[in-house]
Amino acid sequence: MAKVNGNYLKLPGSYLFSTIGKKVNAYAAANPDKKIIRLGIGDVTQPLAPAIISALHGAVDEMADAATFRGYAPDLGYDFLRSAIARCDYQARGCDISEDEIFISDGAKCDSGNIQEIFSVDNKIAVCDPVYPVYVDTNVMAGRTGTYDAQKETWSDVIYMPCIAENEFAPMLPDKTPDLIYLCFPNNPTGAMITKSRLQEWVDYANKVGAVIIYDAAYEAYISEEDKPHSIYECEGARTCAIELHSFSKNAGFTGVRLGYTVVPKELKAEGVALHGLWARRHGTKYNGAPYIVQRAGEAVYSEEGQAQIKKQIAYYRNNANYILEGLRAAGYFVSGGVNAPYIWLKAPEGMTSWEFFDYLLEKANVVGTPGSGFGPSGETYFRLTAFGSYENTVEAIERIRKL
Ligand code: MLT
Repeated sequence: MAKVNGNYLKLPGSYLFSTIGKKVNAYAAANPDKKIIRLGIGDVTQPLAPAIISALHGAVDEMADAATFRGYAPDLGYDFLRSAIARCDYQARGCDISEDEIFISDGAKCDSGNIQEIFSVDNKIAVCDPVYPVYVDTNVMAGRTGTYDAQKETWSDVIYMPCIAENEFAPMLPDKTPDLIYLCFPNNPTGAMITKSRLQEWVDYANKVGAVIIYDAAYEAYISEEDKPHSIYECEGARTCAIELHSFSKNAGFTGVRLGYTVVPKELKAEGVALHGLWARRHGTKYNGAPYIVQRAGEAVYSEEGQAQIKKQIAYYRNNANYILEGLRAAGYFVSGGVNAPYIWLKAPEGMTSWEFFDYLLEKANVVGTPGSGFGPSGETYFRLTAFGSYENTVEAIERIRKL
């Protein structure tokens, strides 16, 4: 008789953004006359840049001709894209990463969920609290997190590292020693950024205790402060303790196109085994590569034209972030994030939980955000707004919130 993976049954509720989607759809169906502004999930709204569109068209035409048609992509990605990434995202910044350490995928969400597979189920994970739910949920599915305490909304075998106003939303080194450490900077959901010296402390710590850091740099393009690290490989010693995840979703608008990459340095080992080889084995067995046309679109991101165009797009969303930050601050809200990230993290009005504020905003202002408690217990009473809406909707949403 077939049996299910019982770990799935331990998961409380549905995926955070599915729950929100259902609530908003129900409200929209019951109130068809309301204009709802969605600043919940971090989904982009601006069209793909012209250089990317032109690369897509060109690649589609190649697929129409037997002489240039492409079948299966190489397991780890096309060289033209891997070398552009190594050159522009790493070597240009002085990071020692080569193209054969880059694995192309269909996005950072999948990689951040799949990467745990190459580690033993016995590993103890440490996560920021609040945290992007994919890191925890995928470890629950793998059976690595112990039992769930519904009261505290925590797992018995997970080390939670509170990211709160007192530590500027950057985690302190944990008391218990983890084996795998998930870090995300610029941070989702708080929008906080870590300094290079604090990130260096994490690298030193991981090397000392033999832990691996899974560093999610999906929002790196939003860093506006000069002295902040764009990659964990800017820190000395990161090649022996860190895996880095990247996305094309937030810098170039690929949320619907799907493209990302993971860096696994060749020196990185656990129990003497090179993780590069394990991830390559997993990729080769379970994945047939991102589509050729999408990888050509990714290559266009690194062209001179593409870089100029996506910089404009990022500036557009940054302007939204600034508008939200200043608008809410002027309205008396405690706000943070938004400077190096497309997320603004605000405190719900006194006496309201995150979900109460979610309902209140939806009903009274017809604005959708994300309740902080959905990202973990330390997110309770906080709320996340995204800067990825259109400028007009962003302005209108803030005006509606200010009038409440
Ligand atoms: C978010 O809203 O946190 C992100 O859009 C989710 C994702 O990138 O998967």
